[in-house]
Amino acid sequence: MVNFKQEIAKEIAEVTNLDSKELENYIEIPPNSDLGDYAFPCFKLAKELRKAPPMIANDIKENIKIDEKIIEKIEVVGGYLNIYVNKQTLAKEVLEDVAKNKEKYGSSDIGKGKNVVIDYSAPNIAKPFHIGHLRSTVIGGALYKIYNFLGYNSVGINFLGDWGLQFGKVMAGIKLWKDEYDFKNDEMSSILKTYIRFNKEEKEKPELTDLARAEFKKLEDGDQETYKLWEHIRKISLENYEKTYKLLNSKFDSYNGEAYYNDKMEPVVEELKEKGLLKESQGAQVVDLEKYNMPPCIIITSAGTTIYATRDLASLEDRMNTYNFDKAIYVVGNEQALHFKQVFATAKYLGIDEKYTNGLKHVPFGMVQLKTGKMSTREGNIIKLEDLLNEAIEKSKKIIEEKNPNLENKEEVAKMVGVGAVIFNDLSNNRIKDEIFDWDIMLNFNGETGPYVQYICVRTKSLLEKAGYIPNIQDVDVSKLNDEDSKNIITTLYNFNQTLNNVTEKEEPSILARYLVTLAEQYSSFYNNCHILDQEKEIKDARLYLTYMVKTVLEKGLNLLGIKVPNKM
Ligand code: ARG
Repeated sequence: MVNFKQEIAKEIAEVTNLDSKELENYIEIPPNSDLGDYAFPCFKLAKELRKAPPMIANDIKENIKIDEKIIEKIEVVGGYLNIYVNKQTLAKEVLEDVAKNKEKYGSSDIGKGKNVVIDYSAPNIAKPFHIGHLRSTVIGGALYKIYNFLGYNSVGINFLGDWGLQFGKVMAGIKLWKDEYDFKNDEMSSILKTYIRFNKEEKEKPELTDLARAEFKKLEDGDQETYKLWEHIRKISLENYEKTYKLLNSKFDSYNGEAYYNDKMEPVVEELKEKGLLKESQGAQVVDLEKYNMPPCIIITSAGTTIYATRDLASLEDRMNTYNFDKAIYVVGNEQALHFKQVFATAKYLGIDEKYTNGLKHVPFGMVQLKTGKMSTREGNIIKLEDLLNEAIEKSKKIIEEKNPNLENKEEVAKMVGVGAVIFNDLSNNRIKDEIFDWDIMLNFNGETGPYVQYICVRTKSLLEKAGYIPNIQDVDVSKLNDEDSKNIITTLYNFNQTLNNVTEKEEPSILARYLVTLAEQYSSFYNNCHILDQEKEIKDARLYLTYMVKTVLEKGLNLLGIKVPNKM
């Protein structure tokens, strides 16, 4: 496709004698299309050209060579150049590209040969998978798919919290109370109940903590029976997670978690020692990070054991060697921001090649707030993710039952809509914001929600079905797509690939979620304003093709977020 930004930058470079690559970076997309398709902020050049921005803008406008096939007109507004591209060319380009690439439209090979490791989900086994982990699973899953679509090789890692004192608690609890819960029929929730009860009783009976420590020590020392029990708990927890992952369409390439690194930390600790980076502090071995204005990173605790940071350092080196990553992303809650700063700083101290340390990125997100306040596993006032997804599915089923009682495979559709609503709700705001969980908002078919975007996409599918054909690109006359609604849609379609690039630059899937809402709204307006099936052939074909393009992008966009689209709803 014509790269309009590049073309515009080239022409501005001609006039100003500045570097066109740099100019291209300055070009913005205005918040509203009345202000043009692109805007060039001339104040960026004020210093270099020693002129006031409005003067620069006028100069450029006067002297720029305009290829009418590319640029329709340019207007000066204050210090800005507002640039309107040739809509016919734009439409032709988009149509041909969709025809050529079909459901690959929007993809690219910008990431070819680059490896991106994405650490996401990472629940703590033996504790419930609660909706706090939902955020990591959904944000990481979207990034995983989007990077792939842009030609990167994404590697999804589920760094399971499968080692630690919580196992001591569960195992001690099982020994104490195994007859009081239904381990035979419902092992998973019995494990969780045991864990929650243990934490509660521990407050009154500190001797329980000693019991848990003793159990965990046995595990660490390799006691066969304890190890078997651990293995069993890990296995059934994973089986349980798989159900949730299947619903969420999440995929992982590795499940190497904390336990995997348990016997692989010595080299890192040795290296830290050799390089003189370990220092004793209150009985613990720490890396001093005063230079970075951070508290020290604890490597060996005063009890002589390794810790979370030690395992993260070992896994970092392992990922470097195994995947030769260009980027390693950690999708983990904001409350662990300091932890990752410390780990990354320690990695630099270790002298790890900059190629790797520059690619390390913590991608934080805000908390999930229920109306009852912050969630905590230990207290027991938690909602399990599986229950939550099932509730979403039930609620969707009710809505479908009301709206479309004769629909076939209601079950399947309710699944896609319910799960889609939860995923979209999670992704529709900047990830760093806290997420408030509200059923009425996320299931609203008319709001900026998953079901709304799905619904518009379903509408495009039904329309194409009703028409009975998708026109041949040769039969489409782009000049028939000259109404405002069509033009807006085409501009948005043109921006699909750029939108995906923006997502990876900021590790922010909400950019795509918002884009899809905009496209859905634009199509809805088109649908209300423009008749389609009862028009003369040329108009009908052009509008059907537009509908096909919108369907393609809405469906692909939702899929990239992990959301499926039914054929009817
Ligand atoms: N299991 C951890 C938790 O739930 C998250 C692990 C994130 N990944 C990592 N490499 N530290 O808090």
